[in-house]
This record gives sequence, C-alpha cells and structure tokens, in this order.
Amino acid sequence: MPSAEQRLIQILRAAHAGEHAAALAYHGHARSLRPGNERDMVARIGAEETAHRARVREMLSELGATPAPHREFIFMLIGRTLSALCHVSGWFAPMYGAGWIERRNIQEYVEAERFAREAGYHAFADELLIMAQVEWDHEQYFRACVVRHWLHRIIPLWSNPPARAELGFIFPLHPKELSGKSAAPIPPTARL
Ligand SMILES: [Fe+2]
Ligand SMILES: [Fe+2]
Repeated sequence: MPSAEQRLIQILRAAHAGEHAAALAYHGHARSLRPGNERDMVARIGAEETAHRARVREMLSELGATPAPHREFIFMLIGRTLSALCHVSGWFAPMYGAGWIERRNIQEYVEAERFAREAGYHAFADELLIMAQVEWDHEQYFRACVVRHWLHRIIPLWSNPPARAELGFIFPLHPKELSGKSAAPIPPTARL
C-alpha cells in the first residue's frame, strides 16, 4: 500500500499536469469571451491556475519528485484542444465544463492536504488547503455563470462542494495556524 507521502506525490503530479491543461483552456476561454468582467475573471482564474502549477512544481521538487512527462504531454494536448474548442462551442459548454473540473480540483487539493498532513508536511498541507479554497471560489464563479443560462434547467449541475470553511474538516487546523493564511474569497460583485 502506498505511503501518505507517495500518495501526496501522485496527487501533486496529477495536479501539476491538470493545472497546465486548465491554464491553457482558460487562456482560450478568456479570448473567446467579449471584453468585460467575464473575460477578466476567466483570465484571472487562468493566472491562478498557473500560480498553482508553479507552487505544485516546487512542492514536488522539495519532495524529491518530478512531474510525470507522459501525463504532462497528454494534459497539454487536452488543454490546447479545450482552448481551441472554446471558440466554436458557444458560451455554455466552456462555463459548464470549467465548473465541473473545478469541483474535481477542490477534491484533489483537499485529498492532497490530507496526505500532506498525514505524512508530516504541515506547511504544505496549509498551502494545499488554501489552494482548495481558491478552487472552491473558481467553482462558485462558474456555477453562478451556468445558473444564469436556461440550459441549466435541462442539464443537471455537478454536485455541490462542502462549505468553504469546512474544506479542512478532516484535519482541522488550529485557528493560530490558519491566521492570515486563508485566501480571500472572490468578492461577490466580481462573480456576476
Ligand atoms: Fe488550480
Ligand atoms: Fe481552478
């Protein structure tokens, strides 16, 4: 059975590749939108995925691991394909797909946080929890976009994530450990 550290490395490798696909897809998604709030928000979310990827790479390196080349290549192709499709698939599909993926990303970082803490990497765990919170903000943004479209009455939404404040419930941090580390949520006005 893999150790907590091995599981952490597996998840970080998956996240590293996934963040690249997401950043590429959001780049295309942003360019497919008209200039304005939506375009700015999608571009901002894409920049946050790039920042996540950079930090995940540092974590892998600190753990003596490297990204998985095969997975990196596959996800680069996925990202480029999604980026191109955003220009022809209309408004709803990229928004829906983004929300669905963000929901999975929340879970990914929550699991990474759990394994990091189990393996004794508490500083990583704190950061990974913040990344889960940022993914939660992304998911909420795309959810708010999708429910404004009539198609959401026909196509069921992905499952609701746990409340933002409960994401670290498996290994709750001491309030002192969390002070100043919680990522600020995206302001509600910016979500509309
Ligand atoms: Fe991310
Ligand atoms: Fe995200």
